Amino acid sequence: MTSTDSISEHTILNNCADETSAEKKAEAFRAGIKEAFHSKGWLLLRKFSPNIDDFVSFSNTLGDNFSNYRSGFFSDRKTFNGNETVMTATGDTQEFAIPLHGEMYYRSVRPRILWFYCQISPGKDGQTTLCDGEALYKNLSVETKEFFEKMPVRYRTRYTQSEWQENFPAATLSEIENYCRDMNYDLKVNHDDGSIKIDYVSSALSGNGRDKPFCFINNVVALFMGEASFKKGVLHAGIPRTASNDFPVKVRMKDGSKIPRKIISEILTESKKLTIEHTWQKGDILLIDNTRIMHGRNSSYSSERKIFVRICDGLR
Ligand SMILES: [Fe+2]
Repeated sequence: MTSTDSISEHTILNNCADETSAEKKAEAFRAGIKEAFHSKGWLLLRKFSPNIDDFVSFSNTLGDNFSNYRSGFFSDRKTFNGNETVMTATGDTQEFAIPLHGEMYYRSVRPRILWFYCQISPGKDGQTTLCDGEALYKNLSVETKEFFEKMPVRYRTRYTQSEWQENFPAATLSEIENYCRDMNYDLKVNHDDGSIKIDYVSSALSGNGRDKPFCFINNVVALFMGEASFKKGVLHAGIPRTASNDFPVKVRMKDGSKIPRKIISEILTESKKLTIEHTWQKGDILLIDNTRIMHGRNSSYSSERKIFVRICDGLR
């Protein structure tokens, strides 16, 4: 598997490891970072931020409109120093590998840019993985492309009453109905216990083949694999909302049919050929364009691993 260390054109090294403030470093490198990021889709910034406070100031100077995890599903994230826009990466407390995915593609509002920061590098394993969704689309078979062109996918999440009141800006049924209408979600309410199901229908493909290349980026494989592992009892630990013994966020085709295993296998095979691994060094910043680059994580058996993530809407 290709390593980020062997792709020097995606790396910007700060050779002046001096006492310059985070804001000054950001200003000095702003133009180069923006240009490289927009042309390449992901970027490794090395030796920029010696500690997380510096990283927060650095990213605040360059990033636009940082947000918290909004209505994200996997809520095992912790925040840093009360700052809700600085979170531990998914799976912070979990060992299993996280398949390639776009962040929050099961929601209609999703971050455009992800910032990862390494506070403690794992002794081994736990590499972050990257895969260019445009290159992956090109490598998929005609049959698989047509399969996803013909029908969008359906992401279904379900919540108990207390869960949706906690996870969405809604306290009453009429508020969650309004919220779901605004977000283009299909809402089903169980009036007996107040629980809800939220469906979001979206193409697994983005782009138009003209001004924006076709791209395979979504949550299809990660949720398919997650559900399969959950059924085998592998993913219970650390996954929220498992009380009903049913995987709480599912992906199907729009008509409710399951995505054929053959198609998942092809995507896994082709994405593996394109996957790039990043072995973390303390202080590394990894910038990812969430509109075209999928990310994941190898199994992580190091309890020491500490990676933070921030999400924002653009670079300034
Ligand atoms: Fe993620």
